[in-house]
Amino acid sequence: MDLSSYYHLLFTLLAVLVSGVIFFFSRKAGGGKGLNLPPGPPGWPIVGNLFQVARSGKPFFKYVEDLRPKYGPIFTLKMGTRTLIFLADANLVREALIERGALFMTRPRENPTRAIFSCDKFTVNAALYGPVWRSLRRNMVQNMLSSTRLKEFKGIRDDAMDKFIDRIRAEAKANGGAVWVLKSARFAVFCILMAMCFGLEMDEETIERMDEMMKTVLITLDPRIDDYLPALSLFFSKERKRAMEVRQMQLDFVIPFIEKRRKALENPGSDKSATSFSYLDTLFDLKIEGRKSGPTSAELVSLCSEFLNGGTDTTATAIEWGIAQLIANPEVQSKLYEEIRSTVGDRKVDEKDMEKMVYLNAVVKELLRKHPPTYFSLTHAVTEPTKLAGYDIPTDANVEIYLPAVGDDPKLWKNPEKFDPDRYISGNEDADITGITGVKMLPFGVGRRICPGLAMATVHVNLMLARMVQEFEWSAYPPGGKIDFTGKLEFTVIMKNTLQAMIKPRA
Ligand code: HEM
Repeated sequence: MDLSSYYHLLFTLLAVLVSGVIFFFSRKAGGGKGLNLPPGPPGWPIVGNLFQVARSGKPFFKYVEDLRPKYGPIFTLKMGTRTLIFLADANLVREALIERGALFMTRPRENPTRAIFSCDKFTVNAALYGPVWRSLRRNMVQNMLSSTRLKEFKGIRDDAMDKFIDRIRAEAKANGGAVWVLKSARFAVFCILMAMCFGLEMDEETIERMDEMMKTVLITLDPRIDDYLPALSLFFSKERKRAMEVRQMQLDFVIPFIEKRRKALENPGSDKSATSFSYLDTLFDLKIEGRKSGPTSAELVSLCSEFLNGGTDTTATAIEWGIAQLIANPEVQSKLYEEIRSTVGDRKVDEKDMEKMVYLNAVVKELLRKHPPTYFSLTHAVTEPTKLAGYDIPTDANVEIYLPAVGDDPKLWKNPEKFDPDRYISGNEDADITGITGVKMLPFGVGRRICPGLAMATVHVNLMLARMVQEFEWSAYPPGGKIDFTGKLEFTVIMKNTLQAMIKPRA
């Protein structure tokens, strides 16, 4: 959504040049005339608010945030041919995603680049509501992310946590006590997910190469102007060619690992490093409702990428904001450390301890309330035209849920600005993170499309923070400096000034 100034100029010129063509097509398409859409800033003919957003110089989430005071809890942005309807209110979110969840549970049409990488919506997150989504989601939830399965991967997590702490320690030693938080956290989570996904032992270099590949894919997926103005797509043949090349590179890189795992399963004992279970095992012969064959190799690549991408940046982002808050609130850090010591004494904190650690759970909940890693849930769409808050919601609109509007709402929270884990302990405030008993925060979304990785991600965030605080005392770098809590949008909302912190090993 962050378009450079070069893009602004180029696209303004292009828009003028081809406006006649677009006008013709948009008129043919109907353009949403006669609908009572939610209010929104007036836009230009054809391009809608596209250039206003691009020219504002604000991150997209900031632009949206600034519209709320003027337009209220539900508003519209027209981005070229796409209509984006934003929900920024707990009651509307509950009505749409929970009470009328069946209606709001599909995804909008995919742009052409995304369609290439999702194998035409053959992933849990991109699939339309229907048999493919049901089959893929059921498999992920029941066969991979159930609580029994999660326990089986404890060894992988323990190993990754030890390596994570060693890496931090080594980095601090080489840099006078300073460490970059996001990078190490990201790598640790990625290692866990890789092992769970492929069930193969991989050296650090291979894991780093896979990570690079996945990052290249995410960059290729960044929205382009022709996603909003398809009539301009003839000017983007170079970018389309590049997307095809990146997809081919991804297939060439990932398929050999898939085949290696397939062989290890076919010849048990042949690969000594292969683990007993992996996500791929659940996918090889997966029965997809309405289809005779299981997933193709290309589809397996898309499903594995989804597994890796869904859980890596999101979790690492939470850790970065979490450490930033523990530095800015030393009393919270001390209290957390005290809880760890009183719960486990001198031994290493283990995920089995998490249940007993009330304060740790409160810190993580407060962290996800204040800093949901993604500010928008994945885009929803309605399966048939409907109304919400008296406005029309057409089937071709993107329904976007703005998450901070709920977690930061002063009608729902006392001093929402304050990072205060004690709010949950005092018994005065609480929130069901799954949204089942009420929607007060929704870092994982709510309703039928709620993040299937919720339980695993919560274990990862709890465990990483607990180990980090048990091993080290965290403070600002440079010493005495103030933490800047400005965010910037990448795939998630990370810290604008990526966090470097000082650590001191605990005595
Ligand atoms: C702190 C970590 C995480 C956060 C904050 C997070 C957040 C989210 C959010 C907001 C959604 C959109 C829900 C909606 O459409 O309304 C989502 C969906 C999804 N997440 Fe996560 N997620 C996290 C970790 C994970 C992990 C670890 C995995 C799996 C390995 C995962 C896999 C998915 C998938 C597959 C979907 C799509 C679900 C569907 O469309 O049915 N996520 N997540």
